[in-house]
Amino acid sequence: MINLLYLAAAICFILALKELSSADGARRGNFCGMAGMAAAVSAACVGQDTNVELGSILQTMAVGGAIGVSIAQVVAMKDLPQMIAGFHSLIGLAAALISFSVYWASRGGNLFWLLEIGVGSVIGIVTFSGSITAFLKLHCSCKECGVSNKVNFSLLLLVLLALFCFIRNGSEAAYVIAVFCSFILGGTLILPIGGGDMPVIVSMLNSLSGWAASGIGFTIHNELLIITGALVGASGTILSYIMCRSMNRSFRKVLFKPSCGKILQNVDTTTLGERKAIKRWAPEDAAFVLKNATSVIVVPGYGMATSQAQHALKEMGEALKKLNVRVRYAIHPVAGRMPGHMNVLLAEANVPYEDVFALEDINLDFPFCDVAYVIGANDVTNPAAKKDPTSPIYGMPIVDVERAKVVLFLKRSMGAGYAGIDNELFYSPNSMMLLGDAKETTAAIVKEL
Ligand code: TAP
Repeated sequence: MINLLYLAAAICFILALKELSSADGARRGNFCGMAGMAAAVSAACVGQDTNVELGSILQTMAVGGAIGVSIAQVVAMKDLPQMIAGFHSLIGLAAALISFSVYWASRGGNLFWLLEIGVGSVIGIVTFSGSITAFLKLHCSCKECGVSNKVNFSLLLLVLLALFCFIRNGSEAAYVIAVFCSFILGGTLILPIGGGDMPVIVSMLNSLSGWAASGIGFTIHNELLIITGALVGASGTILSYIMCRSMNRSFRKVLFKPSCGKILQNVDTTTLGERKAIKRWAPEDAAFVLKNATSVIVVPGYGMATSQAQHALKEMGEALKKLNVRVRYAIHPVAGRMPGHMNVLLAEANVPYEDVFALEDINLDFPFCDVAYVIGANDVTNPAAKKDPTSPIYGMPIVDVERAKVVLFLKRSMGAGYAGIDNELFYSPNSMMLLGDAKETTAAIVKEL
């Protein structure tokens, strides 16, 4: 019975991942995940062979569940990355605590047993301290502080050495050193990483927490934990890889060359582009062009998230549709600061799914579009990614807004985006700048429409 429940849970988790990969299946995916978790927890409760009473397990779960529900209800959309980082720290901590308790309960075993315990503890504790550091950095918007790669490599070496000694002769001192150094390593690895790379790091930590759980599954002989951990680990790794590839960065660069943060610090964004001429438009001019268009493609970026302009944008889309203008939304895979950032915000504002397109599905339509409405996006439209091999974003696919008849850029200043570089498109003949907060400008356009 328990094995059947575990099997059902594993199938539910796989279905959840499948459904979560598209916006319209996401709700079903969440239900599958919840059903799987319910099956898994019930099986674990029924099948537990310890002398802990079921009542106290249920009480503990109720307290944890209540905390989870209350956090989920108050967290703002823009704070989701740090909430996720905070929750990952708990998975790492759980994995590490299970390893500790298994180790200190029996203090000995064969080579494989020591390997499982050692690796599980190290991965768990790195995930824990790394996620806590990521949470604090995101929550307090801390600037990256330099920890040299030499320190990290030395710590890593120390961890590996201590782990080796522990696995070879089961030395308790080596175990404690490995755990302590891993704790420090988790923090020092994440501290120097720039704010823009944090989403990739959160995704990597997510993957790490999955592998930690999977390792623990081996230790306590729980097949479902092995499967679930592997699913989380593998999907997190794939997601991190996709994010890195979309930003034209590599894992190595994100972890050991956090250059983007440094670029942002070194560039005086207030003077960028001041010497070149731009065409500045008022919301009334933009409204006039928009209502006379046949097709409009909206390109949202990080600025839409910071100004929370998605609801005003939805109203604008509806007003334009009433005027028989075709409105679609083009989503770049790394627009904003976390995977699916733009999709989440547009879904929150009830923008219809069928109007939202991935970059590769809409990019060829720009030559046939009258207006590209670029709201708080900068890097994802920058042609330097195609033309300038010295650019930090060179090689990243971009949204081809320059091919539209008119490009409206909504931003507050001529400041740079995440990559800290100027965008030549701001000065092109068909680009019009609507300077000001994206939400206020869009609301003014809606009023005009
Ligand atoms: P960015 O290039 O960062 O540009 C955002 C623009 O929004 C800025 O130029 C800023 O200009 C403007 N802005 C900020 N607040 C605003 C407001 N209240 N009203 C109007 N405009 C505002 O954003 P993007 O085009 O979305 O590109 C994303 C970047 O983040 C890429 O370089 C990507 O590689 C990186 N990144 C993404 C991810 C993921 S997973 N999405 C992860 C890591 C890194 P002003 O200051 O002039 O207003």
